[in-house]
Amino acid sequence: MKARKVTMPGLAQMKAAGDRITMLTAYDASFARLVDAAGVDCVLVGDSLGNVIRGLDSTLGVTVDDMVYHVEAVRRGLERALLIADLPFLAYHDRATALHSAGRLMRAGAEMVKLEGGAAMVPQVSALVEQGIPVCAHLGLTPQHVHQLGGYRVQGREEAAARRLREDAGALQAAGAGLLVLECVPAGLAASVAEALRIPVIGIGAGVEVDGQVLVLYDVLGISPPPRPRFVKDFMTGRDSIAAALSAYVEAVRQGDFPAAEHGY
Ligand code: KIV
Repeated sequence: MKARKVTMPGLAQMKAAGDRITMLTAYDASFARLVDAAGVDCVLVGDSLGNVIRGLDSTLGVTVDDMVYHVEAVRRGLERALLIADLPFLAYHDRATALHSAGRLMRAGAEMVKLEGGAAMVPQVSALVEQGIPVCAHLGLTPQHVHQLGGYRVQGREEAAARRLREDAGALQAAGAGLLVLECVPAGLAASVAEALRIPVIGIGAGVEVDGQVLVLYDVLGISPPPRPRFVKDFMTGRDSIAAALSAYVEAVRQGDFPAAEHGY
């Protein structure tokens, strides 16, 4: 029997039912097919493609044209998973630009777009949602702000920063965001955000007490060169196929076995 297509309302139902959501990045049709076959719920065409595909040292060099190319490829590999695409650096700094960029990603086959930033992004989120474009917000370590943050560092450790992150999360949900990615924040803070929000919260380096997990595919397959962030786990170790590693990731997230305490902050 064909597995049921994942949709944005379906993700909200998963949160309500306490079912953990699995997400991985993919950048081409072949890997997308493998990730989909493993039962991953959401596939993110991340602007991390700047790092892992193009060998850049940040995501800032990625353009909407790059994203469209990879979204079209990934679209051809997917049947069940929800396809989320990153809006790249400076492609959503105002409402009109956000609508134009998101329109290109949706026409390429995306079903949701992801953008980085807090309350300042509320006008863009509501403009997109008003046009029927589902939005995934991204808080915590936001790689497009790497120069402002002073590096790839854990965010929200101080009380004032934690309070700001909670307020940003509430504002983005109120503006209509349907999903929130929380990257590199203390596990306790992430748990409190996931508990407070109605929408699913997907963690990466945010502990296990959230509604789902995302990792970069090449980290899961042990391809990324060291040094690797603490939140990464190589699921190829001890396994003899990519399919087995991807299934192990899905199972570990669904069971709450990944991330372990050692992967968090
Ligand atoms: O670009 C990306 O791959 C991401 C994930 C790491 C969340 O934003």
